[in-house]
Amino acid sequence: RILIIDFGSQVTQLIARRVREAGVYSEIVPFQSAEKALDWPGLKGVILSGSPASVTEGESPRAPERVFKMGLPVLGICYGEQAMCAQLGGKVETSDHREFGRAFLQVKSDNPLFDGVWSEGESHQVWMSHGDRVTAIPPGFRVVGTSEGAPYAAIADEKRQFYAVQFHPEVVHTPDGARLYRNFVIDICGCRGNWTMASFKDDAIQRIKKKVGFDRVICGLSGGVDSAVTAVLIHEAIGEQLTCIFVDHGLMRAGEADEVVRLFRESYNIPLVHVDASKMFLGALEGVSDPEVKRKTIGKLFIDVFEAEAKKIGGAAFLAQGTLYPDVIESVSFTGGPSVTIKSHHNVGGLPERMNMKLVEPLRELFKDEVRALGRELGLPAHFVGRHPFPGPGLAIRIPGAISRDKLDILRKADVVYLDEIRKAGLYDAIWQAFAVLLPVQTVGVMGDGRTYDFVCALRAVTSTDGMTADYYHFDHDFLARTATRIINEVRGINRVVYDITSKPPGTIEWE
Ligand code: XMP
Repeated sequence: RILIIDFGSQVTQLIARRVREAGVYSEIVPFQSAEKALDWPGLKGVILSGSPASVTEGESPRAPERVFKMGLPVLGICYGEQAMCAQLGGKVETSDHREFGRAFLQVKSDNPLFDGVWSEGESHQVWMSHGDRVTAIPPGFRVVGTSEGAPYAAIADEKRQFYAVQFHPEVVHTPDGARLYRNFVIDICGCRGNWTMASFKDDAIQRIKKKVGFDRVICGLSGGVDSAVTAVLIHEAIGEQLTCIFVDHGLMRAGEADEVVRLFRESYNIPLVHVDASKMFLGALEGVSDPEVKRKTIGKLFIDVFEAEAKKIGGAAFLAQGTLYPDVIESVSFTGGPSVTIKSHHNVGGLPERMNMKLVEPLRELFKDEVRALGRELGLPAHFVGRHPFPGPGLAIRIPGAISRDKLDILRKADVVYLDEIRKAGLYDAIWQAFAVLLPVQTVGVMGDGRTYDFVCALRAVTSTDGMTADYYHFDHDFLARTATRIINEVRGINRVVYDITSKPPGTIEWE
């Protein structure tokens, strides 16, 4: 496998993606804990990431010295090149000629990193983002590419198998970048490139068997992709030793709860406890309008109900969770101090200790789209695997103000029409998340010859890669007009529809 040492670049995760796309398993480790990772068995090469820091400043991060003494190939990217140069006897200076965005690399010499991709004398688009630049390269290196702002845009020491580039091959704006990573991990590091979802699945099943032995495992289902894939994978590994609990809080979308129950019981024959706790949740939420109070009320009640059910099953030593890789990667912080809580997220963290259970998290190494690929590999239906994310607190946070059964019904109907139009227009997979919000505002309208005084429905659709930032989806006006007309005609209780054009930031994806 390949170790990626993270110096805090925004795009480090993309490096891991490109390496995995080449069929090689890779993991990201923050520079502070990289020393230990160098002892990983089967380590074939190291990549040093970019960073917002400056090598020219005293306290800036460095790679462990051992990286350069192990005889392993090393690839430095952007700041990674500069750190490598600074550590191996080259020179880095703050430059007046900064480069941000598109640049052109003049290829000065053929070398293994460019093999089959770029040849001497050619010029290729690359993506740059740097203020500092290398002004002298360490002994043993030679220049293999230059750009207008970076005389040492690509350098190589083929004898030691050290390579470094000032540009970012991991972003799509470096069109050939993925192939450079392939060259590095396959040709230079000698990885075999046979890491596929099928092999991951087989390995994961073996690991689960070994970890769990003959113990019982409990898995909470949320109706979402991550928990479903976790459950099906564990079931393949240990069969009847797994029991799933589905706490139905009554805040799901139309038909969703039934679908989960049918899928698990009928298609997979996985033992499933379906707890209909909607009365309890709606009761606890009565009159609650503050978003944080709503979230906390739901979160606490969820844990109480789940714990009570788990105790009834009894004897389970393990709790399964669908934790994904982006939640596991420790972020490299330069600002220090805790970040502000924008929303308290709903999860079952804290439960394993309280119940004295151990965790099984078989998706810990995967990105969201890899989880989807694994879901397909496990035979989950395509429409289920491709589902948009849905928040734990459900529709309660899509009805600003106090919720009620009537409002939930109105919102469910509007949501069905909206998503139906999105699917019909073939847009579902192009959108990260789309949903309706029922506003606590009534406006005057006229329908037929009568006056109406009904609620406003807001439609939201965003594009995003990770939910951290998002842009609103640019629907055409015909689509919006058609959808608004259908909602008003078909959903009693709504007489006005608006479209939310706020990106994130400054907005969040959900309204609460
Ligand atoms: P926001 O609204 O913070 O949402 O921009 C980012 C992503 O997270 C989802 N979300 C949640 N997911 N529990 C979850 O499992 C929650 O409490 C929760 N709140 C928001 C949201 O739908 C979006 O995909």
